Amino acid sequence: MYIKESKGFPEDFLWGAASAAYQVEGAYDEDGKGLSSWDAFVKIPGKTFKGTTGDVAVDHYHRYKEDVKLMAYIGLKTYRFSISWSRIFPEGNGKLNEKGLQFYDDLINECIKYKIKPMVTLYHWDMPQSLIDQYGGWESRQSVDDFVNYAKVCFSHYGDRVKHWIIMNEQNVFTSHGWMLGTHPPGKINDLKMFYQVNHHVFMAHAYSVLALKEMYDDALVGSSFAFSPSYALTNKPEDALSKQDYDTLQSYYWMDVYAYGRYPRAALSYLESLNVKIEMEPWDEDILKRSALLVDFMGVNYYQTTTVAYNPPQGVNNLNGENNSGKKGTKAVTGIPGLYMNPSNDFLDKTDWDWAIDPSGLRFACRDITSRYDLPIIISENGLGAFDKIEDGKIHDPYRVDYLREHIKELKKACDEGCRILSYCVWSFTDVLSWLNGYQKRYGLVYVDRNEEENSGTLKRIPKYSYYWYKKVIESNGENL
Ligand code: BG6
Repeated sequence: MYIKESKGFPEDFLWGAASAAYQVEGAYDEDGKGLSSWDAFVKIPGKTFKGTTGDVAVDHYHRYKEDVKLMAYIGLKTYRFSISWSRIFPEGNGKLNEKGLQFYDDLINECIKYKIKPMVTLYHWDMPQSLIDQYGGWESRQSVDDFVNYAKVCFSHYGDRVKHWIIMNEQNVFTSHGWMLGTHPPGKINDLKMFYQVNHHVFMAHAYSVLALKEMYDDALVGSSFAFSPSYALTNKPEDALSKQDYDTLQSYYWMDVYAYGRYPRAALSYLESLNVKIEMEPWDEDILKRSALLVDFMGVNYYQTTTVAYNPPQGVNNLNGENNSGKKGTKAVTGIPGLYMNPSNDFLDKTDWDWAIDPSGLRFACRDITSRYDLPIIISENGLGAFDKIEDGKIHDPYRVDYLREHIKELKKACDEGCRILSYCVWSFTDVLSWLNGYQKRYGLVYVDRNEEENSGTLKRIPKYSYYWYKKVIESNGENL
């Protein structure tokens, strides 16, 4: 859309950066923390790149003061981080761990000391292992009650200071990797019925948590963050256009419609019925989902790439073993769902070393789509570039990351001009982090951390990258000086 004059970003725009407990904290068994699903999963041989773990990660647990100080220097307005459920409840339910509660108190207070607004994610994939042992974790409806109990403790303890809450991080990703692709815990493959049942439990946990928060703090803003890869049809062949609709319904709207409307897309339910997949629900669930949808304040969006969609015949490609987790460009396979769609590469777009399509316009496309469909404000809770960074003369020169971020921010500004209500933009990530399946060599941070795949392999020293200093100017100019 051609808009003659840009109004720029809103005055109170929250420039941020993000992390997640398992990827940064380390201290996996310290101060009373219980084990999480990831603590256990990474120890299974062959599951992660070179067997990397988050046992130490980048030691944010002990170095959070240094990290927050680095955030303050560039004037960060918000820091998005997640709480590790098993630090608060080592067993997932039952006894509270005061030391775990204290850690996040300290972190929140440290942010506030520098006028950085804490943006807190309640679930960034690290389910307490004890709940899996007790009843199968998300597979049991019991997980909803235990999650909501954990959520309420966090709200009542931190809600006086935390006003931005993200309940779930990328429900679409952790459930599909966990129950369809076998690449995240619990490592199940093509367990379609359980995949949809687990999703229903997670939706209910999200919905009850939204209701609970609003009852305690009606001034708090709440939503969940979705990994949104908007799609383009490969050609204007009608069958490709219809495959795009199937993809959108089953890969995007299936989640966002529930958060925003409190209902599942009809086409998806018909598809599930045809496969004999019946989601078990309580009679009151639909009502709870609807009530929570009315209270959701924003759609959280983690944006990395767009997807291209083409028709996939019934004997066509499947979704397994397609990912490039090595960083060897060109090794990602075309994947898809037989009979529905496949996702070929987009020849118009450059790719990262992990074959993720680089598409700044896709961020605007995502915001426009959400605005039209849901008319909700948006928090870009993640956006960033995973790359191999090199230290040269003690410095990290990452102009490629600056290019990536600049082009995405430009498109986001256009989205604002086009009427999208964008509240915040968080770079993924603040420091380098453990990239779940890709080890430490896939770096996203504005701040470099001296370590590699082997435990105890570096000093864990923080070195701000060129992109860190660049982002400082972006923040100071409220997105004008790009
Ligand atoms: C998102 C997650 O999927 O993307 C992050 O919320 C993750 O936790 C990020 O690190 C980048 O993905 P990856 O696989 O490159 O680490």
